[in-house]
Amino acid sequence: MAFDYEAYTKYGASNSYCGYYNLHEPILLVGNPELIKHIMVKDFDHFTDRRTFKLKQGRDRYLHNMLSGKTGHEWKALRSLVSPIFTSGKIKHMYPLVCKNADVLVAHSLRQAAQQPYVDMKVNFGCYSIDTIASCAFGIECNSLGNNNNKTGDSNNSDFAKHADVFFQKGPRKILKFLALSMFPSIITRLFNLTYTGPEVDFFREVIERALVMRREGNKKRGDFLDLILEARGTTKEEQFDNKEVLSDDSIVSQSMLFLVTGYDTTASALSFCSYELAKNPSEQQRLRDELRGLVVKEGDGYDLTYEAIMEAKFLNACMNETLRMYPPLVRTERICTKAYQVPGSNVYLKPGDAVQIPIWCVQQDPEYWPQPHVFKPDRFMPQNKHNIQSFTHLPFGMGPRNCIAMRFALLEAMVALGKLVLSAELSLAPGQETLVLELGPGVIRPKHGVKLVLKPIVKE
Ligand code: HEM
Repeated sequence: MAFDYEAYTKYGASNSYCGYYNLHEPILLVGNPELIKHIMVKDFDHFTDRRTFKLKQGRDRYLHNMLSGKTGHEWKALRSLVSPIFTSGKIKHMYPLVCKNADVLVAHSLRQAAQQPYVDMKVNFGCYSIDTIASCAFGIECNSLGNNNNKTGDSNNSDFAKHADVFFQKGPRKILKFLALSMFPSIITRLFNLTYTGPEVDFFREVIERALVMRREGNKKRGDFLDLILEARGTTKEEQFDNKEVLSDDSIVSQSMLFLVTGYDTTASALSFCSYELAKNPSEQQRLRDELRGLVVKEGDGYDLTYEAIMEAKFLNACMNETLRMYPPLVRTERICTKAYQVPGSNVYLKPGDAVQIPIWCVQQDPEYWPQPHVFKPDRFMPQNKHNIQSFTHLPFGMGPRNCIAMRFALLEAMVALGKLVLSAELSLAPGQETLVLELGPGVIRPKHGVKLVLKPIVKE
């Protein structure tokens, strides 16, 4: 990140672009919003791919088959099959599953707060995102936050929780490596033949395959990703695609693993950063609480946040967007030139195979677009101020046809958890936690030592 920042500020990328070598591979670093727009949207047909690596054997074939690393025609076919899973209608359908996990998150955090001086919300948000993805993707209630006797679902849940725990909680480096391999399989990973070969990959494959068999055998539908993926396969006209393997069982396993890994770390980090900033800025926190109190509706014996309320909560949305501006979990993205290209307004020519990097974090920290970039100001994203935002300077989910496929789902998942938490407790920083230390992975940022907060329960009237 320090390297990106130096290249961005000192070598001209902030105004336009600059070039550097990643070992022997030339990279064009593009920071000018107008050029970013060309590469990600207007001239997308010249930049349809990311860098890939050609490992097709053994466990590595799951990495190879992931949507994030697919290229050309295969990517297009797969993306158009998987996209319908993330439409607003389908996501709305998943809302009860998300809510259930958010309620468990809040109850668990408050229980901890009653027993100990502070709560590490990074750990809790991590468990919440595993549980939510496992539940929304595969119908598995792995309940990594709740009590261990209360596990129901299609699979061997205690095993799932155990392996997920090994994979996600105890091995942060493994996740960063897996995330880096799935999103940014750079030349270094190729040169040093880094592959993900942990036994957890076999475990997740078995779980997903078992869930697939059970879905095929029974008629039980949960409206989750697995149902929708099978539905998508059922409606696929084979002649539409040359490649019949677009949604083979292997491919379904790959996409499910991809959702699990990308969904876990990005969402947990975004929630952690947001709760940290709200704890540090009590007036913004109170403003958020006041907005949400005006939106809750009576449900049964209590009050709850409905899907419609979350959609209406402008300040909640602004808090998430401002957090993702300050701390984009993926700090950069990239495209590969797939068709010869002349960079507009220049004599720079790219040939197929040349890499272009978009420094998301640098652009989002640039004081030219974001005055006082280090200050948490959700107001920047309120509807009355949105016209001040220059387009293509807020890129936490990327842009264009190859942007984050699950953006709406991720935002919903984060906003539900945050909304419920802020309505239930006052958040403040634990002593000594005023400065947040960032862990910089390959293309990824996360809070290095967690986010330790004091939670003071709010008594509901
Ligand atoms: C706050 C949470 C998240 C953030 C900030 C985030 C960010 C991103 C970014 C920056 C990209 C690259 C986009 C580009 O190159 O233009 C991306 C791609 C992707 N994301 Fe996310 N993401 C998040 C959550 C999720 C979740 C929950 C899932 C799955 C359930 C997911 C699945 C994917 C996939 C599959 C791709 C690759 C899309 C493709 O190549 O066609 N992401 N994400």
